[in-house]
Amino acid sequence: MAKQDKYIVGVDVGTSKICVVVGEQKPDGGLDVIGIGMSDSFGLKKGVVVSLEKTVEGIRKATDDAELMAGIEISKVFVGVAGNHIKGFNSRGVIGISQKQNEINRDDIKRVIEAARPAGMPADSEIIHVLPQEFRVDDHDGIVDPTGMTGRRLEVNAHIVTGSSTAIQNMLVCVNRAGLAVSGKVLVQKANAEAVLTDDEQGMGVALIDIGAGTTNLSIFERGSLWHTAVIPVGGYNFTNDIAIGLRTPIPEAEKIKKKYGCVLSNYLEPDAVLEVSGVGSDKVRMVPQQLLVNILQPRAEELMELVHQEIGRAGYEGVINAGLVITGGGALLTGITEIAQLEFDLPARIGKPMGIGGLVDVVSSPAYATAIGLIKFGQLDQESGIRQRDTGVRRFVDKLKGIFFTDYI
Ligand SMILES: Nc1ncnc2c1ncn2[C@@H]1O[C@H](COP(=O)(O)OP(=O)(O)OP(=O)(O)O)[C@@H](O)[C@H]1O
Ligand SMILES: [Mg+2]
Repeated sequence: MAKQDKYIVGVDVGTSKICVVVGEQKPDGGLDVIGIGMSDSFGLKKGVVVSLEKTVEGIRKATDDAELMAGIEISKVFVGVAGNHIKGFNSRGVIGISQKQNEINRDDIKRVIEAARPAGMPADSEIIHVLPQEFRVDDHDGIVDPTGMTGRRLEVNAHIVTGSSTAIQNMLVCVNRAGLAVSGKVLVQKANAEAVLTDDEQGMGVALIDIGAGTTNLSIFERGSLWHTAVIPVGGYNFTNDIAIGLRTPIPEAEKIKKKYGCVLSNYLEPDAVLEVSGVGSDKVRMVPQQLLVNILQPRAEELMELVHQEIGRAGYEGVINAGLVITGGGALLTGITEIAQLEFDLPARIGKPMGIGGLVDVVSSPAYATAIGLIKFGQLDQESGIRQRDTGVRRFVDKLKGIFFTDYI
């Protein structure tokens, strides 16, 4: 098998599935997906490893499948980090610019971002990302790239993402024990954004809602940067559980029903549509109206969107999300979920499917693959940040910063 060099690999260890994706870098700067491996995940709860053994086994299996499909030997990977322990807050850094030097340079930018790192982190807490949002040079604010400007004082507003060292270490240990080195760890919200959001959305202001198995991750992007992150303790599993109780059927059966018929709005139902349900502890099959399923799922979807709305309001970003909402994760596959979001927010909503990749696009073109695809796109930016000349595009500069500071904090 070929050794890994021009290949970038992402490992998304989720609560319901582990997904390994292999991307091949193209000479024109594109990225083709050439391998995918999936396994069920049994070792996580709400995004956090609770069984090392089961998680290692799942990563190994998904990696083996991805290697086979891609025909390469995977040695290093970008890993997503998530969970209730992740905290995000905004911070400011300030430095003086030496008057001997006349232009703000790359080292000054690194220095000011370093100054934004909070002093005295709580025990068992570590920084995952320091993400610059905007710069200020003397009295001029809203600057995206201060390189080459002159001034006496440089300030930065940055979003600091921290997480529990223990939780992060446990995830990295699992990846290592599966025989893989970690090239970088990436906040899943950043990975998702990389995969499914357009530059315009991130510029105008957008709420990204990742409905996973155990939790829903919310992130707010505006002016090209991440401003707010939160974890809402409701996910796809709650929908499944509601079906199990409401239709009196075992959880695995409820999960199957949700995936096949899951719908949160009656408008999508054929009149008199029915579905088959097996009872708990019996082989007897009942036919029930699909309307009953909508009656079970719709209140849960409305509750979830209300919780997201409350969180956005509480954090003060209500007036910021001009581009609306983008919904991703496996939970985005519930028919009608975007309409529920539109009704709750009175803003446009769409499903976030991975974009901007080639290769096995048909296979990965589902919101459930957003994190894994985002990881390889992020990995590509990380590699480019050291190589590419800066062009004038705002986004490219922000991307470049992501790469630089991402690498610095591993
Ligand atoms: N077709 C579908 N319709 C409805 N829900 C679905 C569908 N496919 C998957 N899901 C649900 O999506 C959830 C899994 O989503 P996803 O794969 O994004 O989660 P994960 O990354 O494993 O978990 P997490 O991000 O919470 O750690 C599960 O609850 C699953 O039941
Ligand atoms: Mg996930």
